[in-house]
Amino acid sequence: MQKRLRFARACMLTSAAGVFVSWAVLSGSASAQVFGGPPGAPNQAPAAPNQPPAAQNPVGVKDPGVRGGAPGAGGALQGLNADELAFFAAAGEVFAEVDSVSGTVPGEDGAGLGPRFNLNSCAGCHAQPAVGGSSPAINPQVEVATLDGARNTVPSFIQRNGPVREARFVKNPDGSPDGGVHDLFVITGRVDAPGCFIKQPDFAGQLLKNNVIFRIPTPTFGTGLVENVADDDLQSDLDKTLPARATMGISGQFNRSGNDGTIARFGWKAQNKSLLIFSGEAYNVEQGVTNELFPNEREGDPNCQFNATPEDHTHFRVTTPGPSPATAYSADTVSFAGFMRFLAPPTPARSTPTTQRGLQVFLNVGCQGCHTVSHTTTKSPFTGQSNVTFQPFSDFAVHDMGDGLADGISQGNADGDEFRTAPLWGIGQRIFFLHDGRTKDLLEAIRAHASRTSEANQVISNFNLLPGGDQQALLTFLRSL
Ligand code: HEC
Ligand code: HEC
Repeated sequence: MQKRLRFARACMLTSAAGVFVSWAVLSGSASAQVFGGPPGAPNQAPAAPNQPPAAQNPVGVKDPGVRGGAPGAGGALQGLNADELAFFAAAGEVFAEVDSVSGTVPGEDGAGLGPRFNLNSCAGCHAQPAVGGSSPAINPQVEVATLDGARNTVPSFIQRNGPVREARFVKNPDGSPDGGVHDLFVITGRVDAPGCFIKQPDFAGQLLKNNVIFRIPTPTFGTGLVENVADDDLQSDLDKTLPARATMGISGQFNRSGNDGTIARFGWKAQNKSLLIFSGEAYNVEQGVTNELFPNEREGDPNCQFNATPEDHTHFRVTTPGPSPATAYSADTVSFAGFMRFLAPPTPARSTPTTQRGLQVFLNVGCQGCHTVSHTTTKSPFTGQSNVTFQPFSDFAVHDMGDGLADGISQGNADGDEFRTAPLWGIGQRIFFLHDGRTKDLLEAIRAHASRTSEANQVISNFNLLPGGDQQALLTFLRSL
């Protein structure tokens, strides 16, 4: 084993991108049967280190597209008890609730929308292929722009058939780092916001200055399991792959909470610590609803304040024990977090000889250097959720992905070119890919991993050297997830 490693490392030093390096052989993994491999001896001149490897285009290799059939997601975790399941059902309705400014518009019962917002419900953005998921096929942001009398202009980067997007500005006008979310819409003109006249940000002007970056929704299925992996276990799962990773040029670090030092796991840069914190932040940032975690309005114009803050809060009505759903007295943020915590991971399609071959290729080329197949939860207070092994296909660490993907935004210890390894579970039924939703094509998403300084360059070079049949099997495997 030791000898093999040293050999492999020497080989990497004298060669460069353009030579196939098999992860399975390097790591001595039990699954060392190699399907992927160079199509004959690669005779290319070695590329300069840190240059994107050349993409080859074997004829006919194609992303099979969004997997049809019933959504393999949206249900509750297996093993929960009756109380937990009742909470999950009630909390799911809160997650789907539509907000208006004061909760007075029929069909929009939630209160607290705006003054600035990106949409009016969690489930509107987290929709595909079921409530809790990611961006739907038809972007609801187009319709919400003029709902209830609002007169918002739809920014150019929001399209009816495009992904749900939120916008961040890279810099402030004085050149200092901004990085914050600038909401697309205002409540000005809505029937429930008389006297409010604030304006939308000047997105067209900011786009001309190349100062706008985008983020699409990440799916929340299975996130309760992710939340409950012990830090030490995430760390040891990362350490296990170290020798093989190093040989592939992959490092990776965790983004940690600036307050308690533990590993943050959620969001495109693993910038958020917990589902409850994410719920509080999303409620205020995406919908403009102040809450007990983020109690102050982001927009202070006095003519646009219609409610007491925090708009969402615990209801101080103590109910005697009984069947009444917990959501009758807990804050919405608690319901959101509880709903997501109990959402089951996506169910993959049944495996076939092709998907098995695709998994083998995935392991051999080194995708697992970042997309770690499985983790195990620690002791859980929820029924049946202790020591559960699950397959998110992520190490939850952040990696330098090079300037092709970089968005110039730092969050915690994640720099402008670092992103959390995107979990691949459920990818078979996803429509849009990468943090800004730039593509619907898995092949493009894979190729976009390679660019100057990207830690994925060797792995993508391996992928590009595969014969067409192996590339196709890998894509078919990904669409089975
Ligand atoms: C306008 C669309 C939009 C709405 C509305 C919205 N989200 Fe999100 N959600 C996003 C985007 C975009 C991200 C990724 C943000 C990032 O990482 O920068 C995200 C990420 C998340 C994540 C992180 C999951 C993970 O594993 O990375 C959670 C949890 C979440 N949202 C919960 C909620 C909840 C709860 C609500 C309702 C209060 C909500 N979201 C409303 C767009 C939305
Ligand atoms: C160096 C770490 C690394 C390696 C190696 C790597 N990935 Fe990724 N992958 C990432 C990161 C980080 C992202 C998110 C990038 C972004 O959105 O900007 C990602 C995103 C993806 C996505 C899009 C997921 C989404 O939610 O939009 C797919 C598909 C994917 N990877 C597949 C693969 C495959 C297949 C391989 C092997 C050929 C691979 N990756 C190798 C780190 C890696």
